[in-house]
Amino acid sequence: MMRSSTATLTLTLSLALLCIRAARPLRAQPPGSSPAAYLTFDEGAGTVANDASGNGHAAALFGASGWTAGLVGSSALALPGTVGSYAEIATPIVDTTQSFTVAAWVKVGRIGGYQTFVSEDGDTLSSFFLQLRGDTNQFSFTVPYDFFVLAQSGFTPVVGRWYHLAGVYDAAARSASLYVDGVLADTVYSVVAGAATGPTAVGRGKFAGNKVDFANGAVDDVRLYPSALAASDVLAVARVGDPGLTGPLPVAPAALEIDAAHPGHAVSPILNGLMIEEINHALDGGLYGELIQNRAFRDDPSAPVHWALVQDGGTAGAMALDTTQPIPGTALTTSLRVTAGAGKHRVGVANDGFWGIPVKPHATYRVALFAKASPGFRGPLTVSIESPDGATVYARGQIGKIDDQWRPYRVRLHTGPVRPTADARFVIATRDTGTFWLDQVSLFPATFRNRPNGNRIDLMELMAGLVPTFLRLPGGNFLEGTTIADRFQWKTTIGPVASRPGHPGTWGYRSSDGLGLLEYLEWCEDLGMVPVLGVYAGYSLNGSFVAPGPDLQPHVQDALDEIEYVTGDPTTVWGARRAADGHPDPFPLEYVEIGNEDFFDGSGSYDGRFAQFYDAIKAAHPELRVIATTQVASRTPDVLDEHFYNTPRAFQRMASRYDSFDRNGPKIFVGEYASIEGRPTPDLNAALGDAAWLTGLERNSDVVIMVAYAPILVNVNPGASQWPNNLIGYDALRSYGSPSYHMQAMFARHAGNVVLPAKLTTTGGSQLFHSVTQDSLSGTIFLKLVNCAGSPQPVHITLTGSIKVSSRAKAVVLTSRSPQDTNTLSDPDRVVPRARTLTGIAPTFDLTLPPSSIQVLEIPTHRR
Ligand code: AHR
Repeated sequence: MMRSSTATLTLTLSLALLCIRAARPLRAQPPGSSPAAYLTFDEGAGTVANDASGNGHAAALFGASGWTAGLVGSSALALPGTVGSYAEIATPIVDTTQSFTVAAWVKVGRIGGYQTFVSEDGDTLSSFFLQLRGDTNQFSFTVPYDFFVLAQSGFTPVVGRWYHLAGVYDAAARSASLYVDGVLADTVYSVVAGAATGPTAVGRGKFAGNKVDFANGAVDDVRLYPSALAASDVLAVARVGDPGLTGPLPVAPAALEIDAAHPGHAVSPILNGLMIEEINHALDGGLYGELIQNRAFRDDPSAPVHWALVQDGGTAGAMALDTTQPIPGTALTTSLRVTAGAGKHRVGVANDGFWGIPVKPHATYRVALFAKASPGFRGPLTVSIESPDGATVYARGQIGKIDDQWRPYRVRLHTGPVRPTADARFVIATRDTGTFWLDQVSLFPATFRNRPNGNRIDLMELMAGLVPTFLRLPGGNFLEGTTIADRFQWKTTIGPVASRPGHPGTWGYRSSDGLGLLEYLEWCEDLGMVPVLGVYAGYSLNGSFVAPGPDLQPHVQDALDEIEYVTGDPTTVWGARRAADGHPDPFPLEYVEIGNEDFFDGSGSYDGRFAQFYDAIKAAHPELRVIATTQVASRTPDVLDEHFYNTPRAFQRMASRYDSFDRNGPKIFVGEYASIEGRPTPDLNAALGDAAWLTGLERNSDVVIMVAYAPILVNVNPGASQWPNNLIGYDALRSYGSPSYHMQAMFARHAGNVVLPAKLTTTGGSQLFHSVTQDSLSGTIFLKLVNCAGSPQPVHITLTGSIKVSSRAKAVVLTSRSPQDTNTLSDPDRVVPRARTLTGIAPTFDLTLPPSSIQVLEIPTHRR
């Protein structure tokens, strides 16, 4: 087993933490900045703990809290972990909407459950918790905000040992940092702290209006500062209790020995792929080419949202949803009724698109709609792409006569030499008088490979840049539905789009299902990917589930039918249906995933549900490999899907997760992962966390056979996204890849086909991660090095084996001035890879990696 840098770091950290700290009476020495409150807990008796800051914020002891031997000074607050035992200052001490620091020495009496050492009450929830978390058993500086990523210690504390904890909230940077023993453990960004309105508590928190999280152990030397202490001040505060604390270790040179003589296991040929679901307007308003939002008027049953009445010259007009005029033979049950009054000017309706209609020069747009009219109304209807005030018309066309029957109409629009803009609307109007109805109003630009009902070109090209090998579809939570009725029902997503009713998605908006099962498969075909087919498995997000047995059987049959639609030849029922839908050739399929994140199913039904699907699929398709979404005991899944969302620092810590993984169990599919930092797309620091993690997956790709980032697509317009951190951002007109996107492209393009054993030795504060692979045909070695530290990292590299190394290598480097640097629509290339040629490559050579950098070296070799 290779020893990774993370393993070394973890070992160093653990050893440091294992040093027993004897309780030593010390005189407390506050640092330069003065605390607003300072509880030394040196009273040792009574029920009052005085405030040594001189500000008069004494704390009262409640319940069975008392006194014990202190680390700083003679005594500390003893906390028995029983309900109602804590100490409390009657008021908030720091304004938690501004920068503040909270520091304390803590000794944990037991692991288990949430235990809060210091907090300030908000109305129903503490405004911060300096705590041991019950879900991870890690120390955490929990500042409530709108997402689940928290600054955590990365380790479970040892019972009975003193640790110095400091939480620093920087209101300007919107960051929350946790320091342990004077060393920064983690920082999270985009944090907005709520206001403290009640007491400051030691030994408890507040949650859902109740006093909770009663700590078991001891707390000493609690300080609250009305400012964000610098790292050096945090260390100074910690050193009051333990002068031996050194703070972060400097980065020291590392050594990497690569054994080119004994290639290891193969790199999984399908390691790098994609995961998709309808979230953040990834499909409607994203990849799916359709430009009209609410084209079938079903997004909101009470109003024609995204449509507005156009009344040039103030001409009378009206529009309303109408469910009395369904189009026979289709799923179009709601239409838009438009009434135009008499006048010289036009009356019509305008659609604002998905945050604008993209206008490009010399472009062709295809309009398709259903229309019918009241007797006497003949039209014509004009269709145009124009500025929001109608003053500039970019393209115009006409639909001639319409009559009192629903009929489909098509027209093409062409733009001239216009300036690109997304500040445009699509208008259907008339100068005639009377009433007409519209349904399924569609506007398509050119699509990738000119597929009808196809995909947006720039997003397809960006994804192609990742050279993905598979697509996990169609989710994610989107597969499950919020309720069973709202699950992804593949049979309603195929055939003519007019026959697809669409359905409520799980992320707060309706899915048109215009990009349905066949379009997912064609997308795979277009990018050379294989589908990883997620099938609905009887569990939905509101917790409802279908019990295994006869009730589940229709869902199992649905999955078998779906597999037949994908793989069956045209002589099969569903293969014939696919052929009728326009794709006679079956698609390749090897992996079927049963559900999504079924560890959320508290009923325990997944084991039985998985078994029923597994048995039926294996009986009908023994060649297929079946993926479970959580541990099951009844069957041995071929593959287990694991999901990870965490801070960049946590991903660094997890990078060695699979180094010592069971090689005899199911293979692993990391079906979703992302370092969460930066919104709406990740910054360089998140890319560093992702890169560190990916080195561990690539090195262990005998076990981890597939990996996919999630979510991959986000429409960055305000109101369009639901998830904070996504790989590729876009609006109606433009798109860009985040730093993590570029990192993943670098990794995937240099995957190699075999792993070379390598031993990394690091000391000091190195945050260095590596993976070495080779293309066994050409002999080229791909060396991936990730330096997550903020200082340069020297590495001494040795290549052993009977190979001749070229003296020149290509290096592709992704870095920037600050780890918080990122790409945006207006600055898409701030953090992009740069290639250069390295000379002086030899069997041993030295390389210094820039701070916060991701690097891939392509080293040509020849056998001697
Ligand atoms: O990727 C976003 C969501 O995260 C997915 O829908 C779900 O599977 C996970 O919880």
